[in-house]
Amino acid sequence: MKVLILGGTTEASALASALAERSIPAEFSYAGRVAAPREQPIPTRVGGFGGAFGLARHLRAGGFSHLVDATHPFARQMSLNAVAAARDSGVHLIALTRPPWTPEPGDNWEHAADIPAAVEALAGPAQRVMLAIGRMHLDAFLGQPQHHYLLRLVDQPDTQPPLPRHTVTVDRGPFTIANDRALLRGHRIERVVCKNAGGSGAASKIVAARELGIPVLMIDRPELPARREAHRIDAVLDWLAHDTDLGV
Ligand SMILES: NC(=O)c1ccc[n+]([C@@H]2O[C@H](COP(=O)([O-])OP(=O)(O)OC[C@H]3O[C@@H](n4cnc5c(N)ncnc54)[C@H](OP(=O)(O)O)[C@@H]3O)[C@@H](O)[C@H]2O)c1
Repeated sequence: MKVLILGGTTEASALASALAERSIPAEFSYAGRVAAPREQPIPTRVGGFGGAFGLARHLRAGGFSHLVDATHPFARQMSLNAVAAARDSGVHLIALTRPPWTPEPGDNWEHAADIPAAVEALAGPAQRVMLAIGRMHLDAFLGQPQHHYLLRLVDQPDTQPPLPRHTVTVDRGPFTIANDRALLRGHRIERVVCKNAGGSGAASKIVAARELGIPVLMIDRPELPARREAHRIDAVLDWLAHDTDLGV
């Protein structure tokens, strides 16, 4: 057995530790978006594969038997490539996913289907907005330049973010409710915009917004391909063990 983990999430790192503890041969893959990614206890590669074809080639060349797609729910292209490459190479695929967040009593959520819809929903008078969507799609929010945006980014940006009024805070998850409460209060945030990532690593801003009565504009997940899924590390380990019992 040899496992390739497509990473970039808290859950992917937890799976890497679980495989290392069990001495299961595995490799970890990062896209390379972050300057100093978290170190992993298994061999790690960084950078794109060159589409589904490149991933299939990597799987075959590396003698992998299993592929775990543990990417973020908004990493849609990578998940599409994983399905296609697993099919082409005959490697067994599972996605380690987390259920989406759902509103609880006290939450004041508005939903947006995607980033353009979120930009549209921000039309109106200037507000102080926490824009917790990473750095990739900030340009889109130039469509609503009246707001002051608080940007939480993993790295200090090399170039100035495109938004005319903004503050950058550099931090990486997992975050805590106490810190996020202080952050929202300190920056007098009136609205939070975020992706429905699910999981615990980034949930604290939602809880803090609930406690402070701040409305949340929640960007819903993109549609992902149908594939075998597990929500827990031990379910992935069971799947690996089961496949091995069958002689795969
Ligand atoms: N999107 C988010 O909001 C978000 C949030 C937190 C973390 N992340 C993490 O950041 C990474 C990039 O996300 P994204 O939304 O930019 O992905 P994406 O749009 O689905 O992927 C674009 C391309 O980046 C490369 N790529 C993505 N994930 C990779 C991985 N784990 N290993 C090697 N190559 C990878 C692939 O390039 P090739 O086609 O050349 O193989 C892929 O086609 C992922 O690892 C994801 O888990 C994303």
